[in-house]
Amino acid sequence: MNAPNAPSIAVAGTSDYALTDAQFNRIRELVREHTGIALSEAKRQLVYGRLVRRLRALKLESFGEYVALLERDMESELEEFTNAITTNLTSFFREPHHFEYLASDVLPRIAAADTGARRIRLWCCAASTGEEPYSIAIVLRESQQLLHGYDIKLLATDLDSAVLATGSSGVYDAERLKTVSGARVAKFFQKGSGALIDRFRVQDELRKLITFKQLNLMHDWPVRGPFDVIFCRNVVIYFDKETQRALFARMAALQRPGDILFLGHSESLYRVSDKYDLIGKTIYRRNAS
Ligand SMILES: C[S@@+](CC[C@H](N)C(=O)[O-])C[C@H]1O[C@@H](n2cnc3c(N)ncnc32)[C@H](O)[C@@H]1O
Repeated sequence: MNAPNAPSIAVAGTSDYALTDAQFNRIRELVREHTGIALSEAKRQLVYGRLVRRLRALKLESFGEYVALLERDMESELEEFTNAITTNLTSFFREPHHFEYLASDVLPRIAAADTGARRIRLWCCAASTGEEPYSIAIVLRESQQLLHGYDIKLLATDLDSAVLATGSSGVYDAERLKTVSGARVAKFFQKGSGALIDRFRVQDELRKLITFKQLNLMHDWPVRGPFDVIFCRNVVIYFDKETQRALFARMAALQRPGDILFLGHSESLYRVSDKYDLIGKTIYRRNAS
């Protein structure tokens, strides 16, 4: 353990900045307060690497100055601060069994139940750069015949405004499409030309299904349920159990018995919520409790 306030980390090439224990701990508190993300001691290097760029951009001379800025004027720095801290790893059709289940079970069941409302509402609550909501939208379009006449809306939200901008632009490097089949690329993406020669743009028929909005899961949710399906994948892993309990209690209030919740591969509702039953690999169904 380093002594409080002692310079404790400096990275090659950036050794002009030091991050003391006290500064790191204060940053951890602020991250938790504003994003719900619980950073362990092991994330010190990550925090350093992400924030040192902000120090440079702001022409600050030390982490002390940056912490002082956060304390003084969080409102103006909040967006950049949280954007810098979030981890946005994602890909098209990540954890593919969820998309298969959506196509083979969830959507046919909704169509078969035909409550007369003919509305389907889905929420992807940690949408990152958009690959996840576009994968959902592809499945929805492929189920078009089954869902003929349905009013379908997919809400895609994230805390990080920068990744949301990528999502709503719908433009991806060819390399990002390697987990999408050739047939799907041909059907749902348009190859760019000129400056966009190595890039692909998602077709408008997918974009039309999705609304991208900034939403912090720690704050109020200006959303209108109920949601037939919620994708909440690979985000609560960053939150502690107490935060997860509060979050899923709110989520359960937005779903009716039978509605579906998908979590990420290392996430679980065990000892977190009894409002859902586990019905498949990280697939949950809202129960009647
Ligand atoms: C690792 S990515 C997961 C992306 C996608 N769900 C997937 O599974 O591929 C986690 C996302 O959660 C977002 N996030 C983190 N804390 C959040 C919060 N408090 N509210 C909303 N989104 C948050 C991050 O910005 C990031 O885009």
